[in-house]
Amino acid sequence: MNKLIVSLLLTVGISGIAHAAGNAVTGDAKAGQAKAAVCGACHGPDGNSMAPNFPKLAGQGEKYLSKQLHDIKSGKRTVLEMTGLLTNLSDQDLADIAAYFASQKGSVGAADPKLVARGEALFRGGDLAKGLPACTGCHSPNGAGNAAAGFPHLGGQHASYVAKQLTDFRKEEGGRTNDGDTKTMQTIAKRLSDEDIAAVSSYIQGLH
Ligand code: HEC
Ligand code: HEC
Repeated sequence: MNKLIVSLLLTVGISGIAHAAGNAVTGDAKAGQAKAAVCGACHGPDGNSMAPNFPKLAGQGEKYLSKQLHDIKSGKRTVLEMTGLLTNLSDQDLADIAAYFASQKGSVGAADPKLVARGEALFRGGDLAKGLPACTGCHSPNGAGNAAAGFPHLGGQHASYVAKQLTDFRKEEGGRTNDGDTKTMQTIAKRLSDEDIAAVSSYIQGLH
């Protein structure tokens, strides 16, 4: 057989498998509710956590949630508080839990009036001088993200949690590095000062 055809077949075959694996499990929100009971202690029964260092999961995109759960389970993303919690959960369990939290309605907090102007300018316009793109490009103008693309919903998220993520993405070592080969968030966060992080995180908390 011609070499080109063989390599074409291989490529199609491999991407076909990758495609199938990505869609092998479809989440069932109803089944996920019972499986998510143990998560409620920190994230809130409906995914609207009360503590500012525990992220809200309610209304978060299913694809993003599922990716984070797999990354936390495999250790690609370190969450000490969740050590061992996902070990015995199957791909189906993780898909069901992701579907459950995605189906819930996220609550919104309030922004610090003193930080709104800088936060809004950064979120909506980026900062040309620093080579910072607008956050809206991926996370959308109202902070809803892009569920199909796996860009997370940010609007209403606790400012403390958001600030910790941006600080972790910025770290050279021991930070959050599960943002893919493009390192989009690591690159962006490295251009943010502490003041930028405080302002944009507060703005996000009140965004809806
Ligand atoms: C003891 C508290 C605790 C429990 C119980 C817990 N989590 Fe978490 N979870 C956390 C903390 C803290 C973080 C954020 C860590 C960080 O700062 O990066 C987190 C992060 C997450 C994230 C990432 C959110 C995002 O926006 O990126 C997901 C998804 C998640 N948890 C799902 C779950 C699920 C599902 C369960 C139950 C099986 C669970 N958690 C149980 C504390 C907890
Ligand atoms: C080019 C697209 C893109 C742009 C622009 C972008 N982000 Fe992101 N952001 C992402 C993606 C993709 C992720 C998810 C990474 C992963 O899978 O862990 C993410 C994750 C995040 C998270 C973590 C959310 C969570 O629940 O843990 C925060 C916070 C965040 N971005 C804030 C920002 C801010 C603030 C800006 C603007 C200064 C910004 N992003 C600009 C694509 C982008």
